[in-house]
Amino acid sequence: MEAIQEVAQILRENADKTVFVLSGAGLSAESGIPTFRGNRDGLWNKYNPQRLATFEAFEENPLLVWKWYLWRMHLIAKAEPHDAHRALVKLENLLKDFWHITQNVDGLHRRAGQKRFLELHGNIWEGKCRYCETRFGEKEFSQLFPLADREFLRNLSEEEFKEKILQGLTEEKLPRCPTCGGIVGPGVVWFGEPLPSEVLEKAYEIAQRSAVCLSVGTSAVVYPAAYLPELCKKKGGILIEVNPQETPLTALADYSFRESAAKVLPQIVQELEKLLR
Ligand code: OAD
Repeated sequence: MEAIQEVAQILRENADKTVFVLSGAGLSAESGIPTFRGNRDGLWNKYNPQRLATFEAFEENPLLVWKWYLWRMHLIAKAEPHDAHRALVKLENLLKDFWHITQNVDGLHRRAGQKRFLELHGNIWEGKCRYCETRFGEKEFSQLFPLADREFLRNLSEEEFKEKILQGLTEEKLPRCPTCGGIVGPGVVWFGEPLPSEVLEKAYEIAQRSAVCLSVGTSAVVYPAAYLPELCKKKGGILIEVNPQETPLTALADYSFRESAAKVLPQIVQELEKLLR
């Protein structure tokens, strides 16, 4: 508890400065969305990312890639934000210049009410044509590909999802780009693809000027995202980590909480609220 109070005090002292959170899949783990690494159920321990999350894989087998993304979309559509997502919304309201920079594509932060966020790896509900670079917002994309509509997926039971989507999907039913006719993929960043430059530039700028960085639920092994906390620290910022496991950032961190996000973040916010009262 002492460390929680110390961190709340640091946030209070820096309430007028820039503070950011870098989040990863562990932030949404308690909403029931599997992480990629970190335990036996991690997606990349079960599936090969080179066959599912690269443009080469998509060109070779778009049906397989889309089935895998629709499976994740179905899980995400049924998930709800939890106390850690809500704690980050509170931080945004308590601090003057707070940013949530996330690697998550699930959008649970938006659903919790977060306004000041950057999605480094895109958004799973949007669409992206890799052949002509046309992008589709969520609404537009669900019109182009109704099977990927969030409400539609949310209302499907697991059985119905298997029958209607996994078994019934053929390449002919995949979304085609109205501009170039290519098959449109999900609006996420795959391995080997660059991050959206305007988002990355803004993220670097925030990390450099931040007085405090909280790294939450990320294994901190995927770059350039993992560089952001390092950059903040190099520029004199204070680094706080929340992760049940050690990461490459742990050695750099000023505070490390070996606990879940849903446990630690609400406690920090509660203490901060007391200090600001
Ligand atoms: P990872 O799956 O690599 O790491 C998740 C981290 O969350 C691990 O370090 C876990 O220990 C931690 N964790 C698990 N449960 C937690 C909890 N309840 N509270 C806090 N932490 C918890 O996820 P990312 O770091 O987000 O990119 O992975 C980065 C990128 O690699 C992803 O955006 C994705 C992936 O491949 C692409 O697909 C391009």
